Amino acid sequence: MPVIDILLSDFLKLSEVDKLSYIKDYALLYAQQFSRKDLDDYCILADKCRALFKSTEGAQKLAGLLSNRIALNFFVQPSSRTFLSFSAAQAILGMKRMSLRDLNISSISKGESLEDSIRTFLSYVDLVVMRHFDNDAAAIAFWVAAKAARRVSIGDEERPIPIISGGSGNLHHPTQALLDIYTLGKSFNESGGIDGKKIMLVGDLKRGRTVRSLSYLMKNYNNVELIFAAPDQFQMKDDIIKFLDSHKIPYSKIDSIRDAIDSVDAIYMTRVQDEWDKVEKGGHPPTNDNVIFKKEYLKLMKPTACLLHPLPKRDEIEIEVDYADDPRVVYWRQERNGMWMRVAIIATIFQCDQKILDS
Ligand code: CP
Repeated sequence: MPVIDILLSDFLKLSEVDKLSYIKDYALLYAQQFSRKDLDDYCILADKCRALFKSTEGAQKLAGLLSNRIALNFFVQPSSRTFLSFSAAQAILGMKRMSLRDLNISSISKGESLEDSIRTFLSYVDLVVMRHFDNDAAAIAFWVAAKAARRVSIGDEERPIPIISGGSGNLHHPTQALLDIYTLGKSFNESGGIDGKKIMLVGDLKRGRTVRSLSYLMKNYNNVELIFAAPDQFQMKDDIIKFLDSHKIPYSKIDSIRDAIDSVDAIYMTRVQDEWDKVEKGGHPPTNDNVIFKKEYLKLMKPTACLLHPLPKRDEIEIEVDYADDPRVVYWRQERNGMWMRVAIIATIFQCDQKILDS
């Protein structure tokens, strides 16, 4: 059976859910592809990798797992954390790494199509992690990998070269959502986990791919409630609202953090995504005061609540919050969690998860 038997143009017309019937676990493109068990398994594996890496013997064991594999990090949109944490995760698993970060120095600048470029990458590497400004780029890469002759041995199978999205247009950032779940789970370790929690998403919800991917993952938890705090022009888009309705996930829309700060279990801040606007370089407009997290809000937060941000941030969190020495401020730990979650993601896609758990 071929992995995919339809034209690229027809594949791209499919809904994400329909695309998943082809993508299965060959690639990681959308948050909708994960079950509760997947999420729990990823978190257990990330914890296990973290613990193993503390000893020289454990670190050597991890580094031996994928030492015969080569990864390409194809990031043509700006990135610090996703790029570096994937690169670090690959190093922890012993992979050789290459990167391509600028279209102007790739043959795409000579007119080569994205399809041809991806097919070329697949000649040299065993994994492609990619960040691209085009919403369809990761789906195109999956289709090319599924069609290409070159396969990679994983378990007992010859599989398409795995594609992992590290951020796709302004719609999807699935691995960020996984590391956010890992961070939320850790923050709620003493208070019953993510089930039953009230989570406030703040900022540019319209163009923020992290909040969209995280919203999709909420279908896996019981009695979770979402609060969208944003000015009207940045409120969550209708496709996510429809998704929440279809999964009976309650939500409300407000325009100020203050209206819910004392009742929520998690606050997830985001930056205005003005890279999608035609603003002059360096001309970032100030954030609406209603969606700025002020130091005084730490006094209003529940003692068990946590404050997350996918980062990078600008003025949407007062600088004093960074240095408040408050354990509920978890966004710097969230970055480190990202590296461990990405170790777990790569280990799972190459089916060495059980080997790690058995160590
Ligand atoms: N959170 C995130 O995607 O950060 P980078 O843009 O720095 O990768």
